[in-house]
Amino acid sequence: MSPVPLRQPAMLSDRDEVRHLGRLLGDVIRDFDGKAAFDTIEALRQASVAVHRDDGPERRAELARLLAGLSLDDAVRFIRGFLNFSLLANIAEDRQTGLVPEGAEKRPERLEGALDELARHGVAPGEVAATLAGALISPVLTAHPTEVRRKSVIDRESAIAELVARRAAAADRQAIDSELYRQIALLWQTRPLRAVRLLVVDEIANALSVMRDNLLPVLPALHRRAETLLGADVGSFLKPGSWIGGDRDGNPFVTAETLRTALAGQARAALQYYLGEVHRLGAELSISASIARITPELAALADDSGDESPHRQDEPYRRALSGIYARLAETHAERTGTRPPRASALIAESYPGPGALVADLEVVRASLVAHGGERLVGNRLDDLIRAVGIFGFHLASLDMRQNSGVHRAVVAELLREAGVCPDYEALGPDERTELLRRELAHRRLLGSPFADYSEVTQSELAILRAAAEAHARYGPAAVRNYVISHSTCVADLFEVYLLLKEVGLYRPGDVPACDVMVSPLFETIEDLEAAPAVMRAFLAMPESRALADARGGVQEVMIGYSDSNKDGGYLTSSWALFEASRALADVFADAGIRLQLFHGRGGTVGRGGGSAFAGIRAQPPGTVGARIRITEQGEVIASKYGTPALAALSLETMTSATLLATLAPPETDPADLARFRAAMEMLSGSARAAYRGLVYETPGFNTYFRAATPVGEIAELKIGSRPSSRTKSDRIEDLRAIPWVFSWSQARVMLPGWFGVGAALIGFSDKGLLRAMNAQWPFFAATLSNMAMVLAKSDIAIAALYSELVEDEALRAEVFGTISAGWKRTHDSLLEITGKTDVLGDDPVLARRIRMRLPYIEPLNALQVELIRRYRRGETDARVREGIHLTINGIAAGLRNSG
Ligand code: PGA
Repeated sequence: MSPVPLRQPAMLSDRDEVRHLGRLLGDVIRDFDGKAAFDTIEALRQASVAVHRDDGPERRAELARLLAGLSLDDAVRFIRGFLNFSLLANIAEDRQTGLVPEGAEKRPERLEGALDELARHGVAPGEVAATLAGALISPVLTAHPTEVRRKSVIDRESAIAELVARRAAAADRQAIDSELYRQIALLWQTRPLRAVRLLVVDEIANALSVMRDNLLPVLPALHRRAETLLGADVGSFLKPGSWIGGDRDGNPFVTAETLRTALAGQARAALQYYLGEVHRLGAELSISASIARITPELAALADDSGDESPHRQDEPYRRALSGIYARLAETHAERTGTRPPRASALIAESYPGPGALVADLEVVRASLVAHGGERLVGNRLDDLIRAVGIFGFHLASLDMRQNSGVHRAVVAELLREAGVCPDYEALGPDERTELLRRELAHRRLLGSPFADYSEVTQSELAILRAAAEAHARYGPAAVRNYVISHSTCVADLFEVYLLLKEVGLYRPGDVPACDVMVSPLFETIEDLEAAPAVMRAFLAMPESRALADARGGVQEVMIGYSDSNKDGGYLTSSWALFEASRALADVFADAGIRLQLFHGRGGTVGRGGGSAFAGIRAQPPGTVGARIRITEQGEVIASKYGTPALAALSLETMTSATLLATLAPPETDPADLARFRAAMEMLSGSARAAYRGLVYETPGFNTYFRAATPVGEIAELKIGSRPSSRTKSDRIEDLRAIPWVFSWSQARVMLPGWFGVGAALIGFSDKGLLRAMNAQWPFFAATLSNMAMVLAKSDIAIAALYSELVEDEALRAEVFGTISAGWKRTHDSLLEITGKTDVLGDDPVLARRIRMRLPYIEPLNALQVELIRRYRRGETDARVREGIHLTINGIAAGLRNSG
């Protein structure tokens, strides 16, 4: 797929394009399913649009009548129609988002705009360049199950997106329209639901295509642009990461084998990209030594290449590049176990590492510069050198992740079997830490070939061995981080180091060394509150400091948005994350270690979603420090990285925000900030009480939740490889955050995005202070603006339909009453603070887009409720279940968020 050009005339509005695509879809349905089918869907569409244009009981009754009259076949077809319409509307919207209107480079999201803003604050380009040179900005792709679309559907969408972009700029639209018709017809006849559950290898393949097609080609150019703008070297600051194949927290299907598969696939993609580029360079650099001069180093490289072809005897660049190609081909064979698609005719040694490849490419470059100047070099060679610097032989760093509880059990077993400690888990946290430190100081290992370890221990040790193997094969950048879910204490970190020591990745000694950094993930409110103290204690240990020093004085801490939200509600979670980050920055400053925060956030607001730019800028002062990693999950991967143009824009936005958060002076005056924080502390306290009062303290709430949302049906969707709960328990505490958020979103309650906020705001008497916070404090403004988006997508009337699924009337009345009263309080107090008449008063484009979508979502909600009722009553017709799953897809597509 060729990249959609970044700059193109926006001759059509998204509304025009949505209409056009909608018309084509209508044609397709009429042609393939007949006029009657089309008429049924069209009548419903018009009835729904009419309700939204001019609400009234008759119009609603008409819509309800049409829905009730659908046969199961018609219902399934209708749902598919609306689902496909939403997919097409998303394409038109994305195209507009990806466009760069005239003058947009001045916006702070763009590098030019961010640099201008920094210049206004007196930050010189040299300082920006130096900051970038020490920076790490890393989007980390995860396999979190929130992408409901099949890859085949996404592929059709990409083809349609490309055509829509071409059509906007084309003089003759007719030819494009017939191809568009064809693609839409293919989409219409593609099954939207997966027939079987995704496997980890499928998730690996999907992510790999994004990295290969959309990240590899755009990252070098982005670095080049930064360098041109700053007039200085900026190093490789943007590096993608991945969890896919290494994150086994609650996913028993992630094993040593998947880690190997993921890394081999990544290495293949990177090396094949380099091979292609070297091949193209060879075609291009036909310079003859009889005409131009070359450096002795290039001559030597050419002579050593083994390329004796008489056609190229006077073409040293080509000969040198043949040699480089041959060495790369051998590297490919050796590291990935397979020959590259285009073999080399030469016999050569593999490269020991990416550095040696860069060194050869630099020889080529230096010779060109010496005898022709920079202008002779061209972007291809520069970008290739940069690409090797960014992607190495591994493409993206693959993190490992496991739950602290599993580590503890494995360590306990190792210690017991080795006769070191009979019951490690019975020890207190400090005793555990001391024992681990003693063990870490030893050169001897605990593992014994004679012990009969449990399955968990064997599989944990196996994946660690695979990581050690990957270090040897692809270099240490292949697996750099090890995330510990549910971290609560210092021992959690040392346990992982002890396990790494078992496979040789942690090397004891006077100055211990480890090529993997352990990142504790703090994810409940209580754990976030404890995080600064835990990290203070950890950094005080000499081994921690030695390890941090060895990697340039950096230590990462991960903070979890969705679990803290599920635990304490939206406002409290946002606040706990802010305060933990702020306090961590102080702890790290005291320790003289650089803090690298890793934000574990999802796409929806209840999981930390929202504008990435505003989110990064709203971080507390001193917490970004030019180092940031952020998870990119599920449907967000397609919407932010689905094409090279979107990927380029998202990465640039992330870079601009990081630079501004690092170098621009704080936007809030420190004295104000102190007042605002005190206010937030109170707000957070009352929001938490309201939230926990409902979710954890209302008897029967869990029953209400399981009846009034499609949580059970979501668990049956085949959208990811991992189970929806970590354990068998059905407590809300044990449910994963994704199905929790996902199901509230389907029921249009979107409780995780707002509940508790109204109670807090209404109970706070100084409304003037709240208004000042919204005007002067990016954190508070972003919190409210994300919530506004959620409120605009929620609908209490629809939520009421879902509540009818709860059989116990008293419970229904109590819980739904609390939810709807809370919604109204939240809605009204938001307007009071913003002074607007509409929750999206500040964002008319988004408001219009959401309004345009609602008529396509609401009937799906109504059908979903009806089908769920029938399904839960035991109807076994497969179309009932299919219909439910299709409505889930359709609503997610319409809302543009899943879990
Ligand atoms: P986790 O992620 O359950 O994998 O920790 C939660 C989330 O991203 O919402």
